[in-house]
Amino acid sequence: MPSLPPLLRPAIRAIEPEKWNLQRRPDLLELQFGENQEPLSENVLRAIADSGRTANYYSGLQDELVNTIATSKGVRPDHITITNGTDEAFRLISGVFIEPGDVCLLFVPTYPAIKPSVKMMGGTIHPLALGPDHQLPSLEDLRPHLTPQTKMIYLANPNLPVGNLMANLDQIRALLELPLIVVVDECYVEISQWSAYELVNQYPNLIITRTFSKTYGLAGLRIGYLLAHAETTAILSFVKVSIDSFIPSTSMAAAIAALKDEAHLAHTLARVATAKQTLNAGLRALGLTVWDTLTTHTLVDVSPAGFTAPAFVEKLRGNGVLVKTCDVYDCEEPGWVFFGIPPLDRVDWVLGRVKDCM
Ligand SMILES: Cc1ncc(COP(=O)(O)O)c(C=O)c1O
Repeated sequence: MPSLPPLLRPAIRAIEPEKWNLQRRPDLLELQFGENQEPLSENVLRAIADSGRTANYYSGLQDELVNTIATSKGVRPDHITITNGTDEAFRLISGVFIEPGDVCLLFVPTYPAIKPSVKMMGGTIHPLALGPDHQLPSLEDLRPHLTPQTKMIYLANPNLPVGNLMANLDQIRALLELPLIVVVDECYVEISQWSAYELVNQYPNLIITRTFSKTYGLAGLRIGYLLAHAETTAILSFVKVSIDSFIPSTSMAAAIAALKDEAHLAHTLARVATAKQTLNAGLRALGLTVWDTLTTHTLVDVSPAGFTAPAFVEKLRGNGVLVKTCDVYDCEEPGWVFFGIPPLDRVDWVLGRVKDCM
């Protein structure tokens, strides 16, 4: 019987598992990912149910979703590529641009999901430390790390786990003047209200990733979109359609209904903001250090209470709540813990469980 390993591509053998360390415990309150957990609107629930009647290859919803995104977000339809969520978008982008030997620069700590997609294409990751206050390093500091193999730069803005805006438009523009692809992850744009979109028309090397997972609460439906120059979008869409043209019709129907229900989004964002403020104030009152993030999670340093992050995560798990350490973000802070924002009506309960750990 032939052995499998020699048949594997070396790039696949080189992929190491990321340090997600996630627990699957439906009996506990799940706060490991930070998606908005407020209830979906009746309109979205109805759209999901109705879409079952046309769950075939011909739903025809792709154009409607593109046009609804364009109207809702003030972007051009020919700048949009629909994806099965951001993580799949990273595979698409890497598949289009990364060749064996290419290098992707990123700034740690950060969201890690682009790494395996680059490695799968035979590329490598070159992590650089963020500058002071978790900001993008200056171009002078970056230059020594740029080589002819540097094909891509990835940054999430807001970045994880701090949840801060790590770069402004001038800094992104400076990166875009370099001969490489710049991927800007705008997963939390509805909260941060910051976008690099105005640079898209000028720079074909800019790709913005967005998702319906976080503020729209549709993570399980795996749907998102890219924004890029029309020339770049034509290539991304062509490859997407050639390899895997179908986005689930239920996901598209839900995304269209969610975009049209602006009142519900505003209501949800207000509840998430109140939940976050209440959680943060309660955690601070317990002596923990808390960052004010522009995302749907909160970042807590549990070391003032004498805990390491793993010890705290384990103790809180014993009290019914699943949070996670920041290892997966390549974060070296021993006490940093990632808390997704609980639904507003569970915040006091979560604070009670944290208090029981102290
Ligand atoms: C910065 C960032 N980008 C992307 C994602 C994942 O998005 P998606 O569910 O669309 O793959 C996350 C989820 O945690 C994230 O925090």
